[in-house]
Amino acid sequence: MVLHMRHTPVLAHEILDVLALEPGMHVVDGTLGDGGHAQHMLQQTAPNGRLLGVDLDPEAITRAASLLRDDADRVTLIRESFAHIDACVKQHAVDPVHAILLDLGWSTPQFEQRGRGFSFQRVDEPLDMRLSGDANKDLKTAADLLSTLPAQDLAQIFKDFGEEKLAQDIANAIVDTRKNARLSTVGDLVAIILDVYRKKLKSKKDIPWVGGLHPATKVFQALRIAVNHELTTLEAGLQKAVDLLAPNGRLAVISFHSLEDRIVKHCFKSFQKKNIGLILTKKPVTPSDKECSQNPRARSAKLRAIKKL
Ligand SMILES: C[S@@+](CC[C@H](N)C(=O)[O-])C[C@H]1O[C@@H](n2cnc3c(N)ncnc32)[C@H](O)[C@@H]1O
Repeated sequence: MVLHMRHTPVLAHEILDVLALEPGMHVVDGTLGDGGHAQHMLQQTAPNGRLLGVDLDPEAITRAASLLRDDADRVTLIRESFAHIDACVKQHAVDPVHAILLDLGWSTPQFEQRGRGFSFQRVDEPLDMRLSGDANKDLKTAADLLSTLPAQDLAQIFKDFGEEKLAQDIANAIVDTRKNARLSTVGDLVAIILDVYRKKLKSKKDIPWVGGLHPATKVFQALRIAVNHELTTLEAGLQKAVDLLAPNGRLAVISFHSLEDRIVKHCFKSFQKKNIGLILTKKPVTPSDKECSQNPRARSAKLRAIKKL
């Protein structure tokens, strides 16, 4: 039997505060995940509020459907990207939309259980990294990118999406290695990164940790962002979300790294400048020490919210 470790929703109370939900409201959860936030939001909008839950990952939808089964009559779940949130809302006639949540990134089961190469610790897994799995056949896998892109493009990805200091060295080493064999597993890529770091740091350690981080951390983050076009998707999703909201409706976004937070901050500022929205969080809301100690994944979370004018 496979035991699924359920995802713990981050900043759950703070989300409810900024969304100011009331009974009967219509909510869109654009990153449904395991349905933790959705469950809280359904409690606030009971007895007749509706929730449209969207997630790219078919397995997340299955897990959420099980958690939300008691409220199934007021829940609709769709496998789709929040980049197409407008079409989902139209198709399911959610009108008006009072609140939208985007809790970005990945859920605990996705990291811990999937055979898709999200974690650099699972050395035998294939370097896939597509969040949608096989559902989107047009999306290139991480292994595809590593075996086809020129060194310059790989270095750019590692630099732009991972802020990786040894981006060019790692890209060159990948291109050298692939002359002889395709990089197909997590272990293949981790071995190259470790080798580059050992040479640079003149270290003989198995893992030459860099400021408390495994040397593969940034490259894996960068590849995941590139494979899933995460940053362009986020910009498109934010624009569509704010357009969809009814006047006084609220959009809340939780991000987990500075690249995402920067995009949210800039988009919200531009919405405010154009008089489309009013920023509710001058500074991002971050989790309490208590939450961080109970759920270490919360440590990097930042919540920003805006109200539609
Ligand atoms: C941090 S989890 C959400 C957890 C959820 N709030 C909960 O309480 O269980 C992020 C979810 O967003 C999904 N996701 C990431 N990018 C997406 C996108 N572009 N469109 C829809 N879902 C996406 C992931 O598959 C993942 O399930």
